[in-house]
Amino acid sequence: MCGIIGFTGQREASPILLEGLRRLEYRGYDSAGMVTGTGSSLHLRKKAGRIAELTKAVHTAPAPGTFGISHTRWATHGGATDQNAHPHFDATGTVAVVHNGVIENYLSLKHKLQAEGVTFHSDTDTEVLAHLIGRCYQGDLMDAVKQALGQVKGTYGLAAVSKTEPGVIVGARLGSPLVIGIGEDGHYLASDANALAGFADKVVYLNDRQICQIDQDAWVIRNQDLDTVDAAVQDIRHFLGEGESDKGDYPHHMLKEIYEQPETVANAMRGRLDDSDSTAHFGGLNLTAKQLRNIDRVVMTACGTSYHAGLVGEYLFEELARLPVEVEYASEFRYRNPPMDPRTILVAITQSGETADTLAAMREGKRMGHPALAICNAVGSTIAREADGGVYLHAGPEIGVASTKAFTSQSTVLTMLALYFGRTRHLSSLQGQRIIDELRALPDAIRKALGCHEQVKKIANRYAECNNFLYLGRQYLYPVALEGALKLKEISYIHAEGYPAAEMKHGPIALVDPHTPSVFLVPRGNVFDKVMSNMQEIKARRGPVIAVCSEGDREVATVADDMITVPDVPEYLQPIVTAIPLQLLAYEIAVLRGCDVDKPRNLAKSVTVE
Ligand code: F6R
Repeated sequence: MCGIIGFTGQREASPILLEGLRRLEYRGYDSAGMVTGTGSSLHLRKKAGRIAELTKAVHTAPAPGTFGISHTRWATHGGATDQNAHPHFDATGTVAVVHNGVIENYLSLKHKLQAEGVTFHSDTDTEVLAHLIGRCYQGDLMDAVKQALGQVKGTYGLAAVSKTEPGVIVGARLGSPLVIGIGEDGHYLASDANALAGFADKVVYLNDRQICQIDQDAWVIRNQDLDTVDAAVQDIRHFLGEGESDKGDYPHHMLKEIYEQPETVANAMRGRLDDSDSTAHFGGLNLTAKQLRNIDRVVMTACGTSYHAGLVGEYLFEELARLPVEVEYASEFRYRNPPMDPRTILVAITQSGETADTLAAMREGKRMGHPALAICNAVGSTIAREADGGVYLHAGPEIGVASTKAFTSQSTVLTMLALYFGRTRHLSSLQGQRIIDELRALPDAIRKALGCHEQVKKIANRYAECNNFLYLGRQYLYPVALEGALKLKEISYIHAEGYPAAEMKHGPIALVDPHTPSVFLVPRGNVFDKVMSNMQEIKARRGPVIAVCSEGDREVATVADDMITVPDVPEYLQPIVTAIPLQLLAYEIAVLRGCDVDKPRNLAKSVTVE
């Protein structure tokens, strides 16, 4: 949520900043801006709208200089206007600041500053920070940042420059990620290591309450008392590739990511399935045999799509590992005080590894003394680093704001974890081996499921004008119904609800009419007949039915208006296979409605504010 990139070195800064912002744009796209420096002058360019608007502004009026900071914004305080775009200056025009996060006490600080005669030019909380730093500034930017931060409550990942310290960039972090990049021609500061691909070979992650300074030749990280801290330098060449975030021949990142799923799911399994003991193995779980044996309850915590993967995990763990599971919205869990048995393990599920609520929930679980595992995609992210152990998805960067491949990889990893825990408990080696074989067949099943794309396009054409959709499924497919509805609403802005198919009789069925399609998840399985009955109930009320069902299912054909077929897989793998048509349906409808699929309105890719 919001992106920052800064550069100081031997090259012109503005092209680097624009390219970095372009890569970070998925994190927020309400407005963008930069400040660059030459000698003792700072050059400000900022614009409401997408990075393309800022790029035009910089082409018209170039921003010269070999150092600068820049920002792409997801609005929290104040609308998406030129004035509210970052950077913000202090009253004397000496110090400029870009900021991710929320300054919670900004209003009282603003009133105090206004009473002292300071004029504000924006509605943002960040401008308060700029004025505070400016007022503390006596020639040492790092010291001024430190003093100003002593007055604020809230979260920040920030970068600041001063026109009296050319080439110097100061950064600070509390609750919002920041990373130093070390390149051949200078140093970088960014909110996300992915923005540095091809620019920097090495990175150093800041921890909370640390302040850093970079210039052309050096970098340093200090603690709150400004003592230098040792920090690990990490090579990022192995997990970042310049071309990885390109769309290739696809019109949208989302479609590319949907089509990547046979490979991303295979990557999640690579090297982790072991025929010799018919179980899964993970390099990074970091659980002792004693801890493993002791675990008798699992709490999964996550937000959005990752939360839906957690719900799939609940069914998986209960069936395969016979472990009781609760799945909690991270935003709720972090402020609750649930009774937690000491033998409970916490599993945080997150694509980005930076979601503020998931991070806070994980910290809360750890504080209560529970081991915390992370199922995470972004390598080196805060949650990945702070968890006691974890499993990476290895799905590659997910750029489309609507999550697709992360969901199927998370569900795959959860299946392997359930197998692993199951094998330490009651699952026989024969049962374990059967699951392994079925998992190995999964990438092919996904490939076949993608074959439904043409069917989906036709169905999308038929229903794209509808303003309400229901998504219905039972058992393993109830979370998929939730996920299908979320995909549709976030990228096409159509109102959609997901329900357990039988639950709709208890209220939502009142919504059914000839203009409200119900998407049923009804592949063959234990509850097939039950779901068929639920489908009849909708048909009896003249609701159109779109059924996602097994190939060649004649029974479904007698009831459904439209069918999308998926290959047969065991029930515990159906969430992964049936998610594919729902992703494609949301995608095709959004395209037909002319929506910005990769950057839906009001959203940002990683939500680093609570
Ligand atoms: C939906 C979506 C969001 C994220 C949620 C959690 O398509 O992308 O709902 O799933 O913000 O994000 P992560 O997984 O990064 O913690």
